[in-house]
Amino acid sequence: MTPRQLHRLGATAMALVLSVTAVHADDTAEYMDFFEPLPYFPPIPADNTITQEKIDLGKMLFFEPRISASGVISCATCHNPALGWSDRIPRAVGHGGQVGERNTPTVLNSGFLGAQFWDGREPDLEGQALGPIEADIEMNMTLAEAIERLKEFEIYHEHFAAAFPDDPDPINQGNVALAIATFERTLNTPNSPLDRFLAGDVQAMTDQQVEGMKLFVDAGCVACHNGPALTDSNFHRFELPGSTDEGRFLVTGDEADMFAFRTPTLRNVAVTYPYFNNGSVDNLTDAIQLMGQQMLGQDFTEEELSQLVAFMDALTGEMPHIEIPALP
Ligand code: HEC
Ligand code: HEC
Repeated sequence: MTPRQLHRLGATAMALVLSVTAVHADDTAEYMDFFEPLPYFPPIPADNTITQEKIDLGKMLFFEPRISASGVISCATCHNPALGWSDRIPRAVGHGGQVGERNTPTVLNSGFLGAQFWDGREPDLEGQALGPIEADIEMNMTLAEAIERLKEFEIYHEHFAAAFPDDPDPINQGNVALAIATFERTLNTPNSPLDRFLAGDVQAMTDQQVEGMKLFVDAGCVACHNGPALTDSNFHRFELPGSTDEGRFLVTGDEADMFAFRTPTLRNVAVTYPYFNNGSVDNLTDAIQLMGQQMLGQDFTEEELSQLVAFMDALTGEMPHIEIPALP
């Protein structure tokens, strides 16, 4: 059943209740059922429990430029806390000033994603974490060298031992991935206006935002942008004018996946411009119009676009309070 059908069913049921009780309830409540508040933490995998020691180590590694070949690029270069944990440029610039093919997604709330990267080539944050260190256009460092560099610093011996007390030789690739993933799972943005609205604070969203929320359901956006992070973590065909990126097809080789990309989170989308896998659209109005046309075969009016943009603004939550770590 599509969300629209579900919605109609809900509306019919509600109409019945109303005719019986003759109470004029506002219809906003039934729309709220399509959304989930963002929890403070994403699911934590059983084989990577969250501890303060791992968070502290992961944070240091996230900001550590010396695990890059140039010694100047860290995860935070592209996932910059001051820029919505992204970079605000269309496509990422990495080692030697090379420009990659894709836009840098935010790492905020990335623990809620069921697949990592635009093409979903990694299932989880542990699998994702080592890729950028090795990628020649990102940090361009072999993992063996990265581990050697970390071993040069006494403080890393202390931090790895504290984070992985049962490991006799704790400075290794696997533990780098575990620690970075743990830190990333703390980068969540609860208490957005939508979350507060869902929790019962009716003042938390403006009337325009509430109208945007309803349109988001009625138009069918919620079919793909659902769950706490407003993504189904699934793959959908989307063709950007001029782009040759084959998306999910590059991972599976399956024709059905040609030009398919993973639905991104819409949490904090107002501060993570520019948009789409190649960053070619710089504002939300145009991004939403393109979504309507390609995903739903629908053109929105100016008023509808303003409502949907207003709703996107209601998805900006509380940014994590991070003290930039002191590095050795
Ligand atoms: C040179 C810029 C750059 C650097 C450095 C970098 N990233 Fe990224 N990051 C990107 C780009 C671009 C993507 C998307 C790539 C793709 O989808 O193929 C990405 C994707 C991700 C994702 C997936 C998010 C999602 O929505 O799918 C995570 C998580 C992530 N990076 C974490 C890290 C970590 C951890 C580091 C350091 C070890 C790091 N990144 C270093 C640019 C960078
Ligand atoms: C069929 C599934 C589907 C539907 C329906 C859908 N989206 Fe999307 N959305 C996606 C996918 C997939 C992407 C990523 C496209 C890309 O960049 O390759 C995306 C990207 C976006 C982006 C850009 C996010 C970013 O960080 O780059 C916005 C904003 C957005 N959608 C809003 C909407 C709105 C509003 C609607 C309803 C009008 C909607 N979407 C309907 C799947 C969908």
